[in-house]
Amino acid sequence: MDNDEILVDPNEHKTDDIDDLTIRPKTLNEYIGQSEAKEMLDVYIKAALKRDESLDHVLLYGPPGLGKTTLAQIIANELGVNIKTVSGPAIERSGDLAAILSTLEEGDVLFIDEIHRLPRYVEEVLYSAMEDYTLDIVVGKDSQTRTIKIDLPPFTLVGATTRFGDLTAPLRDRFGVVLRLDYYTIEDLSKIILRTSKVHKTNISSDAVLELAKRSRGTPRIANRLFRRVRDFADVKNNGDITIDVCKDALSKLGIDEDGLDYTDYKYLGAIINSFNGGPVGLESLAATISEESSTIEDVYEPYLLQEGYIKRSQRGRIATEKAYNKLGIDFYKGIFA
Ligand SMILES: Nc1ncnc2c1ncn2[C@@H]1O[C@H](COP(=O)(O)OP(=O)(O)O)[C@@H](O)[C@H]1O
Ligand SMILES: [Mg+2]
Repeated sequence: MDNDEILVDPNEHKTDDIDDLTIRPKTLNEYIGQSEAKEMLDVYIKAALKRDESLDHVLLYGPPGLGKTTLAQIIANELGVNIKTVSGPAIERSGDLAAILSTLEEGDVLFIDEIHRLPRYVEEVLYSAMEDYTLDIVVGKDSQTRTIKIDLPPFTLVGATTRFGDLTAPLRDRFGVVLRLDYYTIEDLSKIILRTSKVHKTNISSDAVLELAKRSRGTPRIANRLFRRVRDFADVKNNGDITIDVCKDALSKLGIDEDGLDYTDYKYLGAIINSFNGGPVGLESLAATISEESSTIEDVYEPYLLQEGYIKRSQRGRIATEKAYNKLGIDFYKGIFA
């Protein structure tokens, strides 16, 4: 395992890129789960095609690894248009954005990932581009400045963010379609793993599929990553076939427990319970106690622990629930009344 790679990190790793091209679904039909978002998009895309208009701007939000980038590409594909992809923090000057916008052809999709990290003055250029397909560019210096208006072809902006709350209201309001992606069910994750195994022409037993799905933290990116790791073990130890035994053995060697928690999750829960009496404890104290970056804790570990009810958040900090005590084999009531 790479030392800097956290298996349960839902963010993209370098090693994810290798076969992403083949396993990424290309049509809405192939895209598993997220039925609500899919249904809405299906209607809007068909309506836009029928009227021969560009699709309204779409904002996709939700935790990393749930399929936002995939969905943006599917939207372009279903519309039969080109997609230009940029990342919010990479656009440093409004001129950069203007340059990208001026290359768009009618109906194209501009995908801005991590759109909450667009610099404010760049964001402001986006407003008129989104609203009436014009670009206001300031040219000249000092008292000589003037604004020129450039017409853009109608296009669709697809924005993706993991932090909906960090978006400014004026930007949020300019999206006609706002879709939230949720953690996947075990059933949907099983379908995704099965699909990935077919792409890789790997035999996997149905109980192994289920086992992987249960340990993937509701996240397709993690499911695919665990699949690849388990397949390595199967290749070396079992002629490539993924059986439940190979699967369990590999995952336990990788330090992933039956609920998808890893060593850091245990360290984290253990710190709240043992060092802070079950909480509440603030993020920074917790991060210092277990020597992890607070951003890693907040973005990688906590969303899933919260969703699964291992922790709660209050005004005063994080609190370990009875489920967390049980996970660590510590008596909840003894802990409270001791
Ligand atoms: N609904 C889905 N069905 C099948 N595979 C998916 C689905 N959503 C995501 N994936 C897979 O999970 C990985 C991560 O998806 P991605 O779109 O990059 O997530 P995000 O942009 O939200 O971080 C991709 O490799 C993709 O193939
Ligand atoms: Mg992405």
